[in-house]
Amino acid sequence: MSAPAPAAAPAAAPDQQQPAFRGVFGFIGGAVAKAISTTFIVLVVAAFVAQHVLDDKKTIMDAKTHSPEVVLARMLARFEAGSVIPPFEKYHVNRPEAVAMLQGVLRPALLKDYTVVIGEVGCGKTTAVLDAIRANSTGIVYHIVGAELPVDVPKRLAGSLAFAFNQFTFTAGYFKDRGIELHEVTSAEEPFKSWVLLSLSLRDVAQQFKTKHGHPATLVIDAVDQIAQQGPALLHAIQDFAKAAADEQLLNVVLVTCDGSNLPELKASSAMTRARVVEVSDITDEQAVDFLLHRGVNEDAAKRAVAEIAGGRFVLLNSLVFELQFKTVEQIFLKFHIGTRGALRRLFGDLAQISPPVSSTFCRLCRGAQHVDDVEEALGLDLTKKLLATNINILAYHPNKTYTLHSRHVQRSVAALLNCTRS
Ligand SMILES: Nc1ncnc2c1ncn2[C@@H]1O[C@H](COP(=O)(O)OP(=O)(O)OP(=O)(O)O)[C@@H](O)[C@H]1O
Ligand SMILES: [Mg+2]
Repeated sequence: MSAPAPAAAPAAAPDQQQPAFRGVFGFIGGAVAKAISTTFIVLVVAAFVAQHVLDDKKTIMDAKTHSPEVVLARMLARFEAGSVIPPFEKYHVNRPEAVAMLQGVLRPALLKDYTVVIGEVGCGKTTAVLDAIRANSTGIVYHIVGAELPVDVPKRLAGSLAFAFNQFTFTAGYFKDRGIELHEVTSAEEPFKSWVLLSLSLRDVAQQFKTKHGHPATLVIDAVDQIAQQGPALLHAIQDFAKAAADEQLLNVVLVTCDGSNLPELKASSAMTRARVVEVSDITDEQAVDFLLHRGVNEDAAKRAVAEIAGGRFVLLNSLVFELQFKTVEQIFLKFHIGTRGALRRLFGDLAQISPPVSSTFCRLCRGAQHVDDVEEALGLDLTKKLLATNINILAYHPNKTYTLHSRHVQRSVAALLNCTRS
């Protein structure tokens, strides 16, 4: 009996196929897997080490950038470089006298007082101050207060001064060295807390600047009327600082404000006694007519508009350029006249009943500047203050201790309303 033919071998299971290929494949796969896992471990370790190195480096960097020396050095550099002033506007009226006066204020030969620059709303104070700085801003930091809340005023000012609160390490020792207890600062409310911190650093930097350059740096704060509007306390704190800085000949502080309602606030501060008040006034009628001609107003309208409405007040001249395109000088004057009449009626009631001393004072004011004492005596302090208020704008104060009527159109309106031509 022959042995049965062997049955065909069953098909090999796939995992038993081609053992040589499997071996090679498994070897390569294993090697790749091993390489990947090794790389992964290496990367994880490298990342871990790198993180540590970076952390250490950051700590060192932080210590460097957050040290008081570095923060103060940045402020010093800001003073040394000076603020960047934008270029002239297109229709620029040169005011050499005002600019020369302001340049003297910005770089006083001898620092005795701080300065308050005043001038009616829109008379060109900001422009003139910038003109005075533009030629050479070295040593001058210019800051303008915006519409921010008073609580943000020191923070914005700090921005202009390149001072970073959060990067400065204030310690109890730092305050003690400056005669202040830590708790006095920590318990203070904003914005006074920030102001104290900023002002202390400002003093240090001012001292550094003076030692290095042999003369004090200058800090200009424009539009301080914005601070006063929200309450005078912060403005008074700034004035106290300005006075102390002048007393110690440390820093030349220049505050710019429109007068009127704001000046009594400034005056209410005892630090005002140390202030030197200078004025930026209107441009001349001739310059004003020239300005309107350059802005495309015809000669006849320009002359009349200056003589009867605007005088040399920039803010009025600018609005005339626009309004004269579709209104006559009479129509524009009438609008102002109605405004002045309304303001006076709200203050006095029937204008025919105004007492003779008051009306004759007004009529004298229509003819020109009057000494502050004469006006305050005739009108009383209360009424004088109301007439100065920027929402009424009847009177204007001048640092040569005189009052005038606020503007050309007010002068003409008051003269007409009180029949001044007859008195
Ligand atoms: N010298 C000048 N030449 C041309 N335009 C000027 C000049 N001075 C001021 N102006 C223009 O008059 C307007 C008011 O000027 P500016 O803002 O300087 O006045 P201001 O007195 O600072 O006003 P405010 O009281 O509102 O602070 C601006 O539109 C400005 O461009
Ligand atoms: Mg201004």
